Amino acid sequence: MNMSSSETAVRRTFDTVAGSYDQNGVEYFRPIATRLVELAALGAGEYVLDVGCGRGAALFAAADAVGPAGQVVGIDVSAAMIAKTAADLRRRHATGVVVAVMDGAAPGFGPGYFDAVIGSNSVHMVPG
Ligand SMILES: C[S@@+](CC[C@H](N)C(=O)[O-])C[C@H]1O[C@@H](n2cnc3c(N)ncnc32)[C@H](O)[C@@H]1O
Repeated sequence: MNMSSSETAVRRTFDTVAGSYDQNGVEYFRPIATRLVELAALGAGEYVLDVGCGRGAALFAAADAVGPAGQVVGIDVSAAMIAKTAADLRRRHATGVVVAVMDGAAPGFGPGYFDAVIGSNSVHMVPG
């Protein structure tokens, strides 16, 4: 990934906080992400990209919405966020959800690959 110094700072910041991010029992990120997923009106069986998935606030809600026939891909520039969320996925034996370290500014998917692209509290950080 080729990154500017501000993007590197964002990545380092979220690498540092990944272990405790959204894990303290305060209901903040999840209600926002749940409402985003409701508004996105995802359908059963859809393919969804979650940009800046972090610890999965929108990822898990989207996976519930698309069901077992769908697929949700979560990407994040923070390797620590992805490592923690991948561990959560394994613990939950989640199917139909994968995560990867990837820059939302240049995701490695062709046009039209996904039915929907979402990003909760994250898209404002992705360089345009
Ligand atoms: C405020 S957190 C939100 C995480 C999660 N979506 C939530 O609602 O809890 C923002 C996330 O966006 C990620 N992020 C920032 N810039 C990004 C980029 N260019 N591409 C992918 N992820 C990015 C950060 O690493 C961080 O995990």
